[in-house]
Amino acid sequence: MKNSKGVKIGIILGIFFSIFLYANRGEEVYNKVCSQCHQLDIPRDKLMKNFFEMNNTLLNLKAPTISQISYSMKQKIGDPREDIDIQRMEVSAFIADYIIYPDKQKSVLSPKISKFFKTMPSLKGKLSTEDIEAISNFVYDYDQKDKGSKSVEYVSFERALKQAKKENKIMIIQATAPHCRYCAKMEKEVLKDKKIVDLLKKEFVVVSVDLSKEVLPMDLRVRMTPTFFFIFVNDKNEKVKIKRIPGAWSKEDFLDILKESIIAKNAK
Ligand code: HEC
Repeated sequence: MKNSKGVKIGIILGIFFSIFLYANRGEEVYNKVCSQCHQLDIPRDKLMKNFFEMNNTLLNLKAPTISQISYSMKQKIGDPREDIDIQRMEVSAFIADYIIYPDKQKSVLSPKISKFFKTMPSLKGKLSTEDIEAISNFVYDYDQKDKGSKSVEYVSFERALKQAKKENKIMIIQATAPHCRYCAKMEKEVLKDKKIVDLLKKEFVVVSVDLSKEVLPMDLRVRMTPTFFFIFVNDKNEKVKIKRIPGAWSKEDFLDILKESIIAKNAK
């Protein structure tokens, strides 16, 4: 018994340290190589002013920021709402290719921004395979790290279903509409609150359905927007509705609704 526990702890520590070293290696490669030209992150309003009002004379950037690159790649490569592991691989492949064979034709950045830069020089022969893998993950994760827990991550219904089952999380399906004032209010005031975003990340997967473009899954119906459905997938693979919450709520009340739904799930 004791021994197997020891082995288990050893394995867990091993995984922990390899992730840790791996993450550090990405940062090291950034500092040693990429930072000569790419800054990590610059506040959005400053960037906008620099590019769109001052022709890059405010910041005199040599290259787009890592945060800009990370964000654009996730928007343009693969489907960010489908499988995140596949997208990570596709994005890594893009970076691995770009740093050896840079070519603006392949660029994922808006031409309005990339026009300020010369094509990146090739780094062929300067990085090992491990370096390339580490820096690719570093760049992929940068935008996520940066956005961190500031906003809710929405996923497709299919992915939410898989994830809810695998990770034993509650699926929230949020029905919204473009000119819905209370949806915007929820989005701005409640779904950006750190406590709520953190809890959502930990215990829930969230699907947002714009009723002007899509229909709700599972034959769900609403009379008003926003409406939030709380659903979980049980051992028999049945989708169990926990509750349906119409309307906009205060942070405090929404937090209570989330906590109550966790209790309700655990009781079923
Ligand atoms: C000597 C300067 C320089 C260095 C060093 C450099 N880059 Fe770049 N990079 C640029 C410039 C300039 C651009 C924008 C023009 C372009 O897309 O080629 C760019 C663009 C990119 C793009 C493509 C974004 C797009 O347009 O889609 C990626 C990805 C990238 N760099 C990653 C890296 C990584 C990772 C490193 C470090 C391993 C690195 N760069 C090192 C100058 C540099």
